[in-house]
Amino acid sequence: MDKAEKVQQLCVKRGFFWGAYEIYGGVAGFLTWGPNGVILKRRIADYWRKFFIDKHGFVEISSPDIAPYIVFEASGHVEGFKDIMVTCLKCNNKYRADTLLNEKGINVSEALGPAEMLSIIDEHKVKCPNCGGELGEPGYFITMFQTTIGPYAGSKGFLRPETAQGMFTEFKRVFEAERKKFPIGIAQVGRGYRNEISPRQGPIRLREFDMMELEMFIDPQDQRCPYFDSVKDEELNLYHRIIKEKGELEYETMSAEEAVDKKIIINEWMAYFMVMAQKFMETLGIPRNRQRFHEKLEGERAHYATQTFDQEVYLSRWGWIEVSGHAYRGDYDLLSHIKTSGRDLYVDRKLDKPKKVIQTTIIPDPKKIKDKYPRQIGRIMKFLREEDSWKEELVDKGYINITDEITLDKSFFNIKTEEKKIWVEKFIPHVVEPSFGLDRIAYTVLEYSYTEKEDRVVLSLPYIVRVFDCAVFPLVDSGEFNMIARSLYNELIDAGFRVIFEAKDSIGRRYARIDEIGVPVAFTIDGRTLEDSTVTVRDRDTWRQYRLKISDALVFLRELFRYNSFTKVVKMMKLESVD
Ligand code: ATP
Ligand code: GLY
Repeated sequence: MDKAEKVQQLCVKRGFFWGAYEIYGGVAGFLTWGPNGVILKRRIADYWRKFFIDKHGFVEISSPDIAPYIVFEASGHVEGFKDIMVTCLKCNNKYRADTLLNEKGINVSEALGPAEMLSIIDEHKVKCPNCGGELGEPGYFITMFQTTIGPYAGSKGFLRPETAQGMFTEFKRVFEAERKKFPIGIAQVGRGYRNEISPRQGPIRLREFDMMELEMFIDPQDQRCPYFDSVKDEELNLYHRIIKEKGELEYETMSAEEAVDKKIIINEWMAYFMVMAQKFMETLGIPRNRQRFHEKLEGERAHYATQTFDQEVYLSRWGWIEVSGHAYRGDYDLLSHIKTSGRDLYVDRKLDKPKKVIQTTIIPDPKKIKDKYPRQIGRIMKFLREEDSWKEELVDKGYINITDEITLDKSFFNIKTEEKKIWVEKFIPHVVEPSFGLDRIAYTVLEYSYTEKEDRVVLSLPYIVRVFDCAVFPLVDSGEFNMIARSLYNELIDAGFRVIFEAKDSIGRRYARIDEIGVPVAFTIDGRTLEDSTVTVRDRDTWRQYRLKISDALVFLRELFRYNSFTKVVKMMKLESVD
């Protein structure tokens, strides 16, 4: 049994996750997170919030999972969010072409088109892995889930494949609610849905998963990051474009500063978030040498990105797997939404020196408009008041169409052109996006925490993502032991800790069970407790035990999670070893 299988078995047994809808045979790409898994994901997400949002004074929103068609048409997803699919002509199984070829050991890039995939399939005589049948012609498959909004076939919508579009469509509202603070980071933690063609990587490739995304809106004329100085000497493992193009397989390690100076990373913000992402994963138990940043070449990148680095972690069965994507999206998204919605999603830039500009003021002449369109005047004036995009159109084309029947040319407006000095100009913010997949990270943390010791499993979850704080055990399941244990349990629960109480089974079995879900410590009420009110505290990772006064258990826990070190707290509290 390989490690991935052992980890997954443990996860099912101990209620972290399992394949959903098992009673109906299961559906690939859907997981249910069980009682311990939910807490693990919550802890990771909370830590992410602290690390990426709160630390910088950024903000979080929660926009809908479903969006009307126009949102994803504007964002370019309808056109660009697709994979190449190939179907077996015999058994009708469907495969994502690049994955199928890569699994056969034929290295292909995501950037290839259907025709190129076909010639590779022909050249290598690739057959269906299920039945050995002939494969048909590859074609595109849109990986967004489509739905209708309400009972109207014409009102199409999509389940969002990324939470990011919510930050773009709602940008102006958030910006104004935040009193136009700029630069501004807007984040969202929520579901993403992707109709992956044939997900066969268990917990790694899902059709519904949680994302933690941050859109950092910056001024394209000032791409410096105020936090960069604090991380510039940190080293990053970069599998960047120059190395890739040379055909080398190993990443290059260099400081964040060097990477920005050499223009390997596009700007300080990107490099800053990459360092932060590396630290984040390190705190979650993934050593630096098991992490790298893999730059995507043109064609491999999503349609909106001008630079992308995937943060990858090495997994035992699947090799390098992306856990977060770092994309420079430029003004792509806001500009697309400005063009499609006609709304003003610009930000003001105050100028140091005034600038001379030619300004055109266009004022409608209601009397003339009314003479021509007496019955539609109200509607026309409302349109002219509320929309902005018509002005540019009028200047460009000389007329505007308000509806198919209503056309206004320049004679319906007073147009004045004058030279003006301005102190403020408008610009479209550029966006740097770190985007994390919560489920993949949770799985990665579980795999890296999984250890075996004397034929038993110990899940050495980093304290920061522990699913329980401690256990309280009476050594034997009887009167006084239970009473004291219950009272300690209640005290710890009241103080806000997550505590396990178990009285049944041998103490060894109970320790083994909590080791399997990574509970950092257990307090045990034993014979000596009745004599001197002390209990033992057992360390998950060394299995060593110490004695402390029962009244100190609460302080012990507080200190433990303040310093995140069992040894340190044992020393500080001068605890006596039991062994
Ligand atoms: P991949 O190349 O693995 O398909 P992607 O490039 O499509 O991933 P992004 O679009 O950058 O991924 O998505 C951001 C993050 O969301 C990823 O880093 C990953 O952690 C997570 N993610 C993406 N697709 C899936 C999926 N199918 N299942 C689980 N997590 C996913
Ligand atoms: N928001 C990044 C992505 O989903 O690709």
